[in-house]
Amino acid sequence: MGEVEEKLKDYEIKREGEAEIFMLKSNAVFFNPVQVHNRDMSIAVLRTFVVKRKEEHEALMDKRNKSRQKAKQSETSVPNGDDASGSQHDEIDAHEKELNQAVDGINDSSKEVPKTPSWKVTRELKPPIVLEALAASGLRSLRYAREVDGLGKVVATDNDKASVEACKRNIKFNGASAISKVEAHLADARVYMITHPKEFDVVDLDPYGSPSIFLDSAVQAVADGGLLMCTATDMAVLCGTNGEVCYSKYGSYPVKGKYCHEMALRILLASIESHANRYKRYIVPVLSVFMDFYVRVFVRVFTSANEIKNTPLKLSYVYQCVGCDSFHLQCLGRTVTKANFSRAVAALSKAQVKKVKRFLPNPERHWGPKVRAGRKITSKHVSLLGPEAINGVVNGASSHEDGNGAAPDESAVEHEEMKDDDENEPTTKRQKIGDDEPASEP
Ligand SMILES: C[S@@+](CC[C@H](N)C(=O)[O-])C[C@H]1O[C@@H](n2cnc3c(N)ncnc32)[C@H](O)[C@@H]1O
Repeated sequence: MGEVEEKLKDYEIKREGEAEIFMLKSNAVFFNPVQVHNRDMSIAVLRTFVVKRKEEHEALMDKRNKSRQKAKQSETSVPNGDDASGSQHDEIDAHEKELNQAVDGINDSSKEVPKTPSWKVTRELKPPIVLEALAASGLRSLRYAREVDGLGKVVATDNDKASVEACKRNIKFNGASAISKVEAHLADARVYMITHPKEFDVVDLDPYGSPSIFLDSAVQAVADGGLLMCTATDMAVLCGTNGEVCYSKYGSYPVKGKYCHEMALRILLASIESHANRYKRYIVPVLSVFMDFYVRVFVRVFTSANEIKNTPLKLSYVYQCVGCDSFHLQCLGRTVTKANFSRAVAALSKAQVKKVKRFLPNPERHWGPKVRAGRKITSKHVSLLGPEAINGVVNGASSHEDGNGAAPDESAVEHEEMKDDDENEPTTKRQKIGDDEPASEP
């Protein structure tokens, strides 16, 4: 007993919200009481997300049931399903498929048989699973499990052994409700997230400093329509004290302005979006805040290869006046709904309008330097250009000068043809004829 008491002297109990953690007085495992606002706010957002997710699922089920009912009705009205109703059926099927995909994004891929009536779909929405990727003592995970109703499971990972041990101890310390919901794993968060694609309805990143190295794996771990919460405490970098570092971490170069905290948020959002786009995913910001000494963003992650094309519309270059506070935004892209060619027509030059030829026409048919530049003539050329065009060239320069109009000598042509394919072409191409030199046979 005395030994236990001795050991307990090194610990103290910290209470925050409805969770209690057992902390080493030396604070060997990270615990920052100042971040209480961060955790409180995350709980509020998480509660709202759980409600919203449920509403969205119900709306989807409603839509799906209506569409099935409609399909059922049209089936009974036209029992044999003739050709006329085919396209309508196809349309409904396509709609069905779309809805199914959306539902699968929310549920897992379990195949449930529809209950009575046959069109009524009652797929249950599974309780959301949360991943706290950088959990430390597990305080945040424990608060989520105890203070947010309707959560299924909270997974807490950390790559520090002492932290995971502390987390496991704290789970036990918080009783049965925590034990049934929270689990702790020793793992590198990046590996864990990348090996659990789209498995978590909520992913929470709360690192020391910059979250940049976790973003790529985090956007892959979030389920469709899921929530990614992310803190960044490297404000000096995000606010422009060290622009090069910001560019290397987030892909944006910050300017120093009075709006630097808002810009920090936007840089973080743009970076998350950029990582998401690599996996045909995009984000919808839900809440973005600068508070105390950090920024925290809450974004939903969706998948759509089409929607990611809109990313340039969400991004801008900032032009900051060096003399005053004014600035100008230049959007990276804009949407043009309808192509308008009238301006292009109006932009035609006078010559184009009058259809004046921009290049002189050939002085004769098949005009060009090849034959005259001493290219070997083969039957290929004869058939291509016609005997008149190559007249004289096959028989040598003299006959060309003579211009006797005789048909090329077949045997000469055939003889040359033997060398033609592999020798003639490159030789001719390599041959450079000076401006003042007459063309000669190679
Ligand atoms: C700021 S603390 C987390 C605080 C915690 N979220 C809270 O609200 O109390 C960051 C934690 O991330 C952990 N960590 C750092 N890099 C990691 C990685 N690659 N994988 C997993 N955990 C990591 C550290 O061990 C540390 O415990």
